Amino acid sequence: MTTAPVALITGASQRLGGAIANALHQQGYSVIIHYRHSENAAQTLSAQFNNHRKNSSICLYADLDNPTEQQELCQQALDDMGKVNLLVNNASNFFATPIGHTSAGQWDDLFNSNSKAPFFLSQALAPTLAEHNGSIINMIDIHANAALKNHTLYCMAKSALKMMTLSLAKELAPDIRVNGIAPGAILWPKPEQDMTAKEKQKILQEIPLQRLGTLEEIANTAVFLATSDYITGQIIAVDGGRSL
Ligand SMILES: NC(=O)c1ccc[n+]([C@@H]2O[C@H](COP(=O)([O-])OP(=O)(O)OC[C@H]3O[C@@H](n4cnc5c(N)ncnc54)[C@H](OP(=O)(O)O)[C@@H]3O)[C@@H](O)[C@H]2O)c1
Repeated sequence: MTTAPVALITGASQRLGGAIANALHQQGYSVIIHYRHSENAAQTLSAQFNNHRKNSSICLYADLDNPTEQQELCQQALDDMGKVNLLVNNASNFFATPIGHTSAGQWDDLFNSNSKAPFFLSQALAPTLAEHNGSIINMIDIHANAALKNHTLYCMAKSALKMMTLSLAKELAPDIRVNGIAPGAILWPKPEQDMTAKEKQKILQEIPLQRLGTLEEIANTAVFLATSDYITGQIIAVDGGRSL
């Protein structure tokens, strides 16, 4: 078993998850990069980490919509690394679900990645996290509190993740700390969700600090929560004041 602390970050091949993986690696963590579709990006990132520090990263595949694959991901993480000290529930699906045009399958897509998988991964990893003074960080969203028009199911799913954070912080104490990060606008959604320049401008106008957040600002918050031994049940908005 590695002596370094081990972090499992879901959906970590790129974007926010990749930045969190990078920051944790720089802090001395061994990093498990979970991916579903982005295998190449995951392998590239993992190779960078291993070039920097030998045997400090692996990639693991799982479709988090599939309960069996959720369990296999946790078991594989333990088989390969021997322990997990930090779980970052970052993987997420995001798309609009206007009322009148939304299917039960879309409900499942949004709830599986944004609340159901985080719960069952937390449950499966709780024994190793408890044994190793571990913690959980859930990537939530300021829209767990403030409604985002046409995105009712996404907001509901993130709201469930917010309550999971508070509830598990009580239930898993004193052995495991559970916290969350609520990003505001950091990276625009992926191209398939393309937003117009006008829509982007409108969001920027709503941010008191007048800019998007950076990947580093999210990653630094994750490192802060991972290393703050007396903080549990807290959700930090990293949003330039947008939720004020
Ligand atoms: N971007 C922002 O400004 C922003 C704002 C508010 C909140 N957040 C939250 O911060 C986190 C990271 O944001 P992001 O924009 O970097 O996320 P993202 O790029 O939209 O998604 C991250 C990864 O999640 C994985 N994923 C999605 N559904 C999955 C499933 N069913 N099974 C397995 N993997 C799945 C995908 O991995 P593969 O590519 O490998 O398939 C995807 O690359 C998310 O929880 C998001 O809700 C972000």
